[in-house]
Amino acid sequence: MILRDMTETDLDAVLGIEREVHAHPWTAGNFSDALRSKYVCKVYENDGQMLGYAVLMLAVDEAELLDIAIAARQQRHGWGRKLLEEMLVLARRQNMRRVVLEVRASNVAAIAMYRKAGFSDIGLRREYYPAANGREDAILMGREL
Ligand SMILES: CC(C)(COP(=O)(O)OP(=O)(O)OC[C@H]1O[C@@H](n2cnc3c(N)ncnc32)[C@H](O)[C@@H]1OP(=O)(O)O)[C@@H](O)C(=O)NCCC(=O)NCCS
Repeated sequence: MILRDMTETDLDAVLGIEREVHAHPWTAGNFSDALRSKYVCKVYENDGQMLGYAVLMLAVDEAELLDIAIAARQQRHGWGRKLLEEMLVLARRQNMRRVVLEVRASNVAAIAMYRKAGFSDIGLRREYYPAANGREDAILMGREL
């Protein structure tokens, strides 16, 4: 597996995964903005095939994981956890002291992955996300590095 920088030329493949795995996907514009803003945007590949990607925003000493996804047919093989670990290593190398993220309360897969990676709940934003039936809470999670 390799972890490499995401570029504009990856966006078709990235958006293919994004639309497949998220009910409310990021747009091409969201990814372009992330690249332009110099967020840490990484693609995870195996044998030239894109397994997934992640986007991390660095602040003074705190990073925020803005997106992480693994292609549907590649899920449940441990890639998500490995990609998350790689992003934590990158954050640590950039002298970040903490990583935070927001996750939909219904996203049991991601919440379980984050808990296994040492994240704990640090807050709740009620009715934060649009959802099929109205709005949905966001759980804020964090982990010291
Ligand atoms: C969350 C996501 C990245 C996990 O990727 P993955 O490669 O399938 O995860 P892994 O195989 O590494 O699993 C890591 C842990 O996550 C949890 N997990 C993953 N999928 C799960 C599922 N469908 N149900 C419950 N727990 C799940 C398990 O605890 C798992 O550990 P285990 O294998 O020891 O049981 C993937 O489901 C995904 O892309 N989801 C859509 C995008 C998304 O929701 N991103 C997070 C936004 S905040």
